[in-house]
Amino acid sequence: MDIGKNLEKMFSIEGKTVILTGAAGGIGAELAKGLARAGGEMILCDIAEDAVNKVADEIKAEGGKATGYRLDVTDFASFPEFVDKIDKVHGHLDVLINCAGINKRIGFLDYDEATYDRLMNINLKGAFFLTQEVVKKMIPHHYGNIINVSSHNAVGMLGGCSVYGATKSALTALTRSEAIEWAKFGIRANAIAPGHILTALTTVTWETPSRAQYLRERIAMQRPGTPDELVGVVVMLASEASSYMSGMMIHIDGGCLAGGTPWDYDTNY
Ligand SMILES: NC(=O)c1ccc[n+]([C@@H]2O[C@H](COP(=O)([O-])OP(=O)(O)OC[C@H]3O[C@@H](n4cnc5c(N)ncnc54)[C@H](O)[C@@H]3O)[C@@H](O)[C@H]2O)c1
Repeated sequence: MDIGKNLEKMFSIEGKTVILTGAAGGIGAELAKGLARAGGEMILCDIAEDAVNKVADEIKAEGGKATGYRLDVTDFASFPEFVDKIDKVHGHLDVLINCAGINKRIGFLDYDEATYDRLMNINLKGAFFLTQEVVKKMIPHHYGNIINVSSHNAVGMLGGCSVYGATKSALTALTRSEAIEWAKFGIRANAIAPGHILTALTTVTWETPSRAQYLRERIAMQRPGTPDELVGVVVMLASEASSYMSGMMIHIDGGCLAGGTPWDYDTNY
């Protein structure tokens, strides 16, 4: 039995065009590399143009396929032309990963309208309208796969994450609508809910001793995850390994949702 060949058949995304937003970020860059290693032809989008081009260069240097693009996910009007251009170059768009996202950790009562709108626009509205454009190109091929990067905060709160959590809960709800409205077009949609992953977005939290302590107690594995620990699940979602899965959100959180570290209980171990 050729285990490698069997796994390759199940998990390969060779020849698939993968659009990934937020591709210059801590999580996005690792997903970009991991999906390229699984055979994906990566369309890497980020507002940080130099950084996203650097990720594309790193992938090309190791023999993968990637092109970097400057795309601001709040520039909704630019989406039709951008998506059309990518579709014409590749001939088919197969996977869209909505990963661009920001957070602002302030109290519910401290939010002003501009900050509220900024989070909503980047985390939710951008994903909504970009998905709309990409799916229009997927429908004629009767094939497509949407992966939304949600968060533990879609279901569990920390304080100071009200608007962020609302965007992620809403993104998870969109995932379910996408799954049921587009199954007839051969399109699946799923989400991942990373727990506490060490990136630029979260370094400030882990560098604050009181918050790091709070988090450790709430994560069974008592440590933050690393971006590369999300890759396997995303490859599974992007590939035929998950061909009967749609409308679901997978938590990747070191045992956070499960309950974190246990209280003291009787045990011989
Ligand atoms: N790090 C975590 O613990 C964690 C946990 C759960 C979910 N997430 C989600 O994962 C995703 C990636 O987070 P990360 O930790 O890698 O953060 P990050 O800050 O490292 O990366 C975010 C990326 O999004 C890009 N971006 C910001 N505004 C943009 C815009 N208007 N248009 C296009 N790109 C834009 C940034 O340039 C950056 O490259 C986010 O959606 C975040 O909410 C992160």
